Amino acid sequence: MVRITTDIAEAVECLNREEVIGLPTETVYGLAGNIFSEKAIRNIFSIKQRPLFNPLIVHIGKAEAVEQIAQNIPLPAYQLIAAFWPGPLTLVLERRAGIPDLVTGGKDTVAVRMPNHPMALALLEALNYPLAAPSANPFGSISPTNARHVADYFPEQLELVLDGGPCERGVESTIVGFPDGVPTLYRHGSIPAEEIEAELGQLAYLTRKEHAPDAPGMLSRHYAPATRIVMSTEVAQTVAENTGKRIGLMLFSKPLQEANVAHQEILSPKEDLKEAAMHLYAAMHRLDQMGLDLIIAERFPDAGLGRTINDRLERAGK
Ligand code: TXA
Ligand code: MG
Repeated sequence: MVRITTDIAEAVECLNREEVIGLPTETVYGLAGNIFSEKAIRNIFSIKQRPLFNPLIVHIGKAEAVEQIAQNIPLPAYQLIAAFWPGPLTLVLERRAGIPDLVTGGKDTVAVRMPNHPMALALLEALNYPLAAPSANPFGSISPTNARHVADYFPEQLELVLDGGPCERGVESTIVGFPDGVPTLYRHGSIPAEEIEAELGQLAYLTRKEHAPDAPGMLSRHYAPATRIVMSTEVAQTVAENTGKRIGLMLFSKPLQEANVAHQEILSPKEDLKEAAMHLYAAMHRLDQMGLDLIIAERFPDAGLGRTINDRLERAGK
């Protein structure tokens, strides 16, 4: 039976026994294990039911440690590290030989980030190895943004979830790689693409097709609830087109007046994208548990974090 705790020493002990734990970060909760433990890493894949070719992100507690994980790090990567670490930015870099194939999916690159969460950083500080951690959800389903979500997903498979409170960012890290030296956005995330571009200039963008075999976070159906979800720019009209169904709404800032629906989730009454991102997955989890026929999600403005939110809603709806 899984235990939820705030005791970092317990988490250290668990990880040193090559177990997998639920780890709080500022983005979403992770399923974390020692990158050098084959047992722990295999366990992450099997608990998550994730295909082995889909590589994991290496989490480090100090920015300098990136040089023990990666080599030939390009200058723009250092620029991004200086600007955004600790924080929700993952870099895909040339891997060092010592990084296990299981972690990198056998690729010659490795994904690495330094999370900005006091508990995650204190934990990493207390360990003498980095942690591999994918989001703590079964493959393809909604990412967890509090300890309870993780415990509910894996009541028997996990011994312990470290409780660091609700995630402040609420959506996954932004992923940037440098194929042929060109700074390239692999996944929209908590740091808006515009902020990365303010540091480096125009980014290249991978199309889904190009990237699909590389990063299933980019697979078209992902982050998905069990309930059918559709995106809409005209929510009132979409509701009208679905009369007779038990409907839940996920809206940016304003409730729909006189709507004949079972439930409405308002992501940010003050119309703040950061707040909306923070509430996104928890709202999806709640709606998914209401036995609805349909979730209608309002499309966000296509800029800044709105692009990240739309990206997740699109994939959830596939
Ligand atoms: O915010 C986050 O990034 C969270 C927290 C726990 O840190 N982690 C997370 O991990 O979202 P995950 O495994 O759910 O998503 C990582 C994505 C996957 O789509 C994976 O395919 C991609 O990163 N990835 C990992 N290594 C890669 C590599 N070498 N090249 C390209 N993509 C890579
Ligand atoms: Mg994930």
